[in-house]
Amino acid sequence: MSNYHTRVTIIGAGPAGLVLGHLLSLAGIDNLILERRSREYVEARVRAGVLERASVSLLELAGVGDRLRREGLVHEGIYLQFNGGRHHIDFRELADGAVTVYGQQEVVKDLIADRLAHGWPTVFEAEATTIADADSLGPRVLFRQQGDEHSVTSAFVAACDGTHGIGHRSIPTLTTYTLDYPYAWLGILARARPGTDELVYSYSDRGFALYSMRSTSVSRLYLQVPAGEDLGGWSHDRIWAELKARLESPGLVVNEGSITEVGLTPMRSTVSTPMRFGNVFLAGDAAHIVPPTGAKGLNLALQDALELASAIIESVYEHDAAGLEGYSEHCLGRVWRAQRFANYMTRLLHLDYAADEFARQLQLADQRGVVDSMAEATSLAERYVGPALDARSERIVKWFR
Ligand code: APR
Ligand code: PHB
Repeated sequence: MSNYHTRVTIIGAGPAGLVLGHLLSLAGIDNLILERRSREYVEARVRAGVLERASVSLLELAGVGDRLRREGLVHEGIYLQFNGGRHHIDFRELADGAVTVYGQQEVVKDLIADRLAHGWPTVFEAEATTIADADSLGPRVLFRQQGDEHSVTSAFVAACDGTHGIGHRSIPTLTTYTLDYPYAWLGILARARPGTDELVYSYSDRGFALYSMRSTSVSRLYLQVPAGEDLGGWSHDRIWAELKARLESPGLVVNEGSITEVGLTPMRSTVSTPMRFGNVFLAGDAAHIVPPTGAKGLNLALQDALELASAIIESVYEHDAAGLEGYSEHCLGRVWRAQRFANYMTRLLHLDYAADEFARQLQLADQRGVVDSMAEATSLAERYVGPALDARSERIVKWFR
């Protein structure tokens, strides 16, 4: 058994852990990332794909904005489609902003390549098994690599270990609030030119569908299906037929191509509180999950990472612990706002299998409201695009070397 020491132990090389590690390393604060999967595995994992404007600024700040700027697709709006009509929500006009479509695994690839090029310590295929002495000044993380047990002691532990990580198990005071939706998303990735310039969120009486993309030659599409759906019943032909039935309308054609990936995403909301216990901090999916309809999961993970990096940098260099003290409350305020938006978008656009006529008429009125009222469309646009990067980020840049 070897014992290591670093200033910050980060569990998980997803977007949260990698961005946190980057910001700390840029500020000269030693950190070690432990990731239970291989580099190839995390780089190939297909996940979210919409970056809010603050997330783009943050990745630029972290020094990994080059390929994102070159290859990311800037979208200045989305389409909402229901009851035979397609309505454009113009982000530029309504919220003076835009989002960037760029796959989460591309963000992960950029961060890993830059991290390894700098030689910042990263161990793949290293599974954290226990966080000991969480409430002490020197919490310890035990991890297993190739059958051997090791431990690392540090001033701070950041559990950025996603939904099934060990982070939340080490917080004895944790409470988790959950909302399960009765449906899931069947998602595909296909080698096909997107038939739309911007994302189309479509309600139909067959269920919700989303037309998204990863590039000008790769489409990403989703279908609402009942929770726990067996993918065995979904041949590629059936998937395309259903996508066409739910999405196609005058001016919108679904282009077919070879399907390279099929997956099922449960629709779930969870919020765990508090996000801190002693010197152990939760960030990203380890603390919260949002249903994908609002495209907020990746953005929340990046914002937690910025918040935590800022708090640690201020505590180390300015001897100011206020950021650490306020970390959980600050993040949770933003998390509940994102939950509210994701829940609104989900209810606005999905077929509610159990709805009676009253509930259906209310949903119709909500759908009409967002296209008839400039105030409602503006609210949707502002919340989708998100606020500009927090001015606090400028304060940490002065510590960058
Ligand atoms: N030890 C080491 N690594 C672990 C452990 C462990 N015990 N448990 C989990 N991990 C790793 C996972 O293998 C994964 O690579 O932690 C990482 C967590 O990364 P993500 O799941 O990508 O979570 P996060 O960084 O919070 O990013 C959230 O991912 O699921 C999407 O919609 C979500 O876009 C959002 C983003
Ligand atoms: C995606 O492209 O994967 C995507 C886009 C928008 C969403 C969810 C997922 O709301």
